[in-house]
Amino acid sequence: MSSSGSQSIQSVLKETRTFAPPATFSAEAHIGSQQQYDAMWKRAKDDPAGFWGEMAENLDWFRRWDTVLQGQMPETQWFVGGKINASYNCVDRHLLGPHRNKAAIIWEGEPGDTRVLRYQDLHREVCKFANVLKKLGVQTGDRVTLYMPMIPELTIAMLACARIGAVHSIIFGGFSSEAVADRNNDARARVVVTADGGWRRGKEVPLKAAVDTSLDKCPTVEKVVVVRRTGGEVDMVPDRDFWWHELMESVTADCDPVPLDSEHPLFILYTSGSTGKPKGVLHTTAGYLLGTTMTSRWVFDLKEDDTYWCTADIGWITGHSYICYGPLSNGATVVMYEGAPNWPDEGRFWEIIEKYRVSIFYTAPTAIRAFIKWGDQWPEKHDLSSLRLLGSVGEPINPEAWMWYHKVIGQERCPIVDTWWQTETGSIMISPLPGVTATKPGSCCRPLPGIVPDIVTRDGQSLGPNEGGLLVMRQPWPSMLRTLYGDHERFKKTYFSEVPGCYFAGDGARHDEDGYLWVMGRVDDVLNVSGHRLSTMEVESTLVAHSKVAEAAVVGFPHEIKGEGICCFVTLKSGEGDEALKAELVQHVRHSIGALATPDQIRFATALPKTRSGKIMRRLLRDIAAGRESTQDTTTLEDLSILAKLRSDEE
Ligand code: PRX
Repeated sequence: MSSSGSQSIQSVLKETRTFAPPATFSAEAHIGSQQQYDAMWKRAKDDPAGFWGEMAENLDWFRRWDTVLQGQMPETQWFVGGKINASYNCVDRHLLGPHRNKAAIIWEGEPGDTRVLRYQDLHREVCKFANVLKKLGVQTGDRVTLYMPMIPELTIAMLACARIGAVHSIIFGGFSSEAVADRNNDARARVVVTADGGWRRGKEVPLKAAVDTSLDKCPTVEKVVVVRRTGGEVDMVPDRDFWWHELMESVTADCDPVPLDSEHPLFILYTSGSTGKPKGVLHTTAGYLLGTTMTSRWVFDLKEDDTYWCTADIGWITGHSYICYGPLSNGATVVMYEGAPNWPDEGRFWEIIEKYRVSIFYTAPTAIRAFIKWGDQWPEKHDLSSLRLLGSVGEPINPEAWMWYHKVIGQERCPIVDTWWQTETGSIMISPLPGVTATKPGSCCRPLPGIVPDIVTRDGQSLGPNEGGLLVMRQPWPSMLRTLYGDHERFKKTYFSEVPGCYFAGDGARHDEDGYLWVMGRVDDVLNVSGHRLSTMEVESTLVAHSKVAEAAVVGFPHEIKGEGICCFVTLKSGEGDEALKAELVQHVRHSIGALATPDQIRFATALPKTRSGKIMRRLLRDIAAGRESTQDTTTLEDLSILAKLRSDEE
């Protein structure tokens, strides 16, 4: 797409099955009819300020806003003049009535240990940790890095930051120490909160040790707080490192939430782009909280007695928005699980659903494909009758995986919400409404109220039904990112310069004759590996940093479980590559970025295919990696013999 001159993207997927919501579901749903949805959507489109102002009544404010929406994309501000606190909305406001004793977090560790935190308990812990942060010198606006396993202390630390207006930056526990160092430095973090380790498939992931390595390169970090989770050996540096439990004993549980401006930064979350270092996506308080609060209610149809489980890691945006802020703001009961889905066996998720009577289950297509591979006998062993709604996120879901999810997990009873959104959008943008939408497997269906997408050519012209093009947003929405931390120019260039007047974040899509959206994947050089965004460029620069590598080109190829696998074409400074060097390069990438970036294929080449102007012909490499005949015009190829060589090296 990016290199072709054609204006639209060819779509080959045709899906005609539809699944209407059960009448009983619609009757009880927050949004229960097409008329209701149509009216909300139209109202929000015609009068965004009026609509979102009304929705904002669902949050608790210390001071009401003066102006709902100020400015135009990309420089928009929401609820200007308002004062609010996200921690107050997620915790304190639920203490006023019977929610006080409701479970906020039901946690299960991988080894099988469990904890339940009622809203009262969560409040006490959040207040105490906020006092700990203050004691360590953290002030409103300071950045705090959280590099932690999936334990309740992670949610507590997020909300404690939000309580005092510190900006959290969570780094997924699977990233390496080098990635931690980069992010600490970019955010200029003052404090890091971590754990001795976390459990993953029975093994300890040593987090504190990775932090220690990173800190040699992080001059801004003054203090480290360490949760004792695994009991593994750690080095504690005097005056720098402190145990969580010791600090918590030294403070009270009284800590008033700070009334913050609506636009006060809530968090930074790093995500991959097609060029350069990871981007620090910055979200602000009121708009983000409103987006996650309302979409949790609309899309997951959260009710008082639901037990809701999102299997994402909090280190990704899905965990931020739909384990922490969205559900807790709604006073929901959230299940949180520390470990792997296949530990101690492949039935672990279904066992958890049965054990806690989970009613809403939100996971990713890559997980669903793994469940299919492991076999129906695992879910069949468990009682899944508590489920009433299923969700999917992170990448397009293949219609066959959708059907399996519908039949085997949902037992043909549960609506499926295929939710399209991004780190940058903060909350769900395009999704079925479970009480309204007749779903089509593989389609994320219609935009939510307040969201105005379009499918356009590069010059911004709207395309008709079934013409593939670029997915853009024509109107601002409250939970959109406000900037890339420390690089506002990059923010404007990345999202607002591609298509005039619109937000664009890199996906191709089409809508069908019924107005349903079908996302066709990324059009930039971003891989989607197991639902996680990785930049080809970052993997390439990592490879080139190896002393033996001259040049590298990284492309994705279809992968049965991961969605996309990583294929690296590598040229060496001298000599021939062998199996040992392949293994060394794989380790090198794992070490530099983390296990999620582990290359699936390394292919040595004497040269890379380039156009006469020197651009690597990526589409050609993608075809080779996928074992396809290429349709790309090779007349611009500098040296045709390279092609034959690359093909002959196929594994
Ligand atoms: O390509 C789209 C894909 O994931 C990208 C966003 O990645 P990230 O910021 O890491 O956030 C993932 C979780 C929200 C999008 O640009 N994507 C996400 N959800 C879907 C999807 N593609 C198709 N269908 C989805 N439901």
